Amino acid sequence: MPSRLQILTALVGTAFALPNLTPRDTSALRILPWSWNFNITALSGPGCPDFGATSPPHVTRPTFGSNTVDGSEIYYWFFAYPHLRASVAPGTPEASVWCETTLAYTELDKDGVAPAVPGYRLKLHKNGTQVIARYDLEEGVEAKLKFTYFTDGKETIVDTLNVAGPRASGSYNDNTPVTGLVQWPLPKCGTGTIKFRTELTVSAKKEGAKGTVSSDQLEYEGKTVYYGLQQGVSYDWEKCTA
Ligand SMILES: *[C@@H]1O[C@H](CO)[C@@H](O)[C@H](O)[C@H]1NC(C)=O
Ligand SMILES: *[C@@H]1O[C@H](CO)[C@@H](O)[C@H](O)[C@H]1NC(C)=O
Repeated sequence: MPSRLQILTALVGTAFALPNLTPRDTSALRILPWSWNFNITALSGPGCPDFGATSPPHVTRPTFGSNTVDGSEIYYWFFAYPHLRASVAPGTPEASVWCETTLAYTELDKDGVAPAVPGYRLKLHKNGTQVIARYDLEEGVEAKLKFTYFTDGKETIVDTLNVAGPRASGSYNDNTPVTGLVQWPLPKCGTGTIKFRTELTVSAKKEGAKGTVSSDQLEYEGKTVYYGLQQGVSYDWEKCTA
């Protein structure tokens, strides 16, 4: 789980690099631009009907970034999906919901603008996909999260997280299993379009079993709203040679 501080920062903040990112000049091992951002430029599907909505805190949005500090160079950016949730109950043995997200990635210099000559190429998918969600699954219920990254239009990278009940009610942070490094270097340095599909399916394999996958809830103007199930997209960079 991210700390409370990270969540609060994310609620009021933007998609810029957050202070938990180590400045790039503290270690010769690190390969990263001064800063960068991800903007959601399109959303489609029943799991994200709110493209363009801005009223916080319950819209589909970027939340926070994190990274390793041990030289392994694993970066994540998280995106929250308040409408991506599904439940099974007696009489409803399967439920699923999906969303397709398009992101614009931009490298930024220390003035917060895209440099005339970008220095780095983003390579998607350094370490699978992270998922921060709430589960409440009885025995006999299975939850499947499938992440499909559309790369150059020909190949896709697919990550899957399977969670079998029982899983006690609570918030969990999981990483999809990683079998070998499969990355997609963006076609251009400094900028690019990233598109992925997020799909959640909950199935009762046992007659009448109950289960829910959702996210933390909070009170907002007298209503209960969902924070959003979070998908952590992983990446790193390589230097561009002129
Ligand atoms: C991208 O997002 C950042 C941070 O939210 C914002 O400042 C910037 O204006 C956005 N850029 C575009 C092109 O929408
Ligand atoms: C990288 O992926 C592995 C395998 O899923 C996971 O155990 C590990 O926690 C991940 N590393 C980070 C920094 O998230």
